[in-house]
Amino acid sequence: MSRRKIALIGAGNIGGTLALLSMQRQLGDVTLFDVFGGTAKGKALDLSQMASLAGNDMHLKGTDSYADIKGADVCIITAGFPRKPGMGREDLLQKNLEVMKQVASGVREYAPKAFCVVVTNPLDAMVYAFHKASNLPKSHVVGMAGVLDSTRFRMFLSEELQISRNDIQAFVLGGHGDDMVPLTRFSNAGGIPLPQLVEMGMLKQDKLDAMVERTRKGGGEIVQLLGNGSAFYTPALSAIEMAESYLYDQKRLLPCATYLEGEYGYNNIFAGVPIIIGANGVEKVVELQLEPNEKEAFERSMASVQKTVDEVNAFN
Ligand code: NAI
Ligand code: 2OP
Repeated sequence: MSRRKIALIGAGNIGGTLALLSMQRQLGDVTLFDVFGGTAKGKALDLSQMASLAGNDMHLKGTDSYADIKGADVCIITAGFPRKPGMGREDLLQKNLEVMKQVASGVREYAPKAFCVVVTNPLDAMVYAFHKASNLPKSHVVGMAGVLDSTRFRMFLSEELQISRNDIQAFVLGGHGDDMVPLTRFSNAGGIPLPQLVEMGMLKQDKLDAMVERTRKGGGEIVQLLGNGSAFYTPALSAIEMAESYLYDQKRLLPCATYLEGEYGYNNIFAGVPIIIGANGVEKVVELQLEPNEKEAFERSMASVQKTVDEVNAFN
């Protein structure tokens, strides 16, 4: 069987890390694309040399030509511009919208069968824009945010509870903004839901509330610390986990931004909800029975997502 082909669109901090992880995990041959071809070529060459040191036969190529992604099985999209001083949120949205249109056209022409994971921010709007512009099936377009936000929550819980990360499950739904919804009732340590841990006296409610808030602002915390750029290691591994579930038909149940057609009462919008990813892409959207306070929080987050989607539609 020939090796799988992984196309990484955007060779910045996340793109480079994705290439490294794809090579180390032997997902397949990697094509790293960037409008700045030198960056993509330089990183691919450096990683090829690392592969030879590591005794790894994966092939890595850097490019600025979409023809090189021909036949890719998976595309992970991190292309875009960061917000610069003096640039409004709408200016950024418009700029990255243009990027999504270019990427969608390249993917549609050369890799129309690929499973596509969008990472570029603002995530919920960009995955919507990519889906719209590419016209790829909804089963093959997902946005990465929930896996990252959930793993942040999981890390905070592990440190507070002093329980191994391996025994903590955490679940964050909704949009990738400050009003995302960490669901405490569906998060647990060793199978014990968080509200029960509070009742048992193993976790203080105010500490839990603080961790929920820290999760919501988790991206900003790292932006502040770095001073130049945003998180890239965990975002990269989060996208790789989603890609692996597709490539290896793992049927992982993960919170991802997926296209809703009636689920959770929403239509024509991408939102972070639990989905099963397998060889057919998004194989199932899992609908949770939310309690009134959870539903209210989810709806608040969805209202923010709808606002950015409306902005996308207004620019088109
Ligand atoms: P970066 O700035 O290091 O890399 C972006 C790359 O995109 C640059 O190399 C740039 O040259 C390239 N690019 C710009 N326009 C392009 C085009 N038209 N075609 C191809 N490439 C193009 O940024 P980084 O850190 O890799 O982050 C990438 C994106 O992911 C950002 O939008 C960031 O906000 C977002 N992000 C999303 C997260 C999520 O949970 N969804 C988490 C962390 C970051
Ligand atoms: C993050 O959550 C900034 O969206 C980016 O790290």
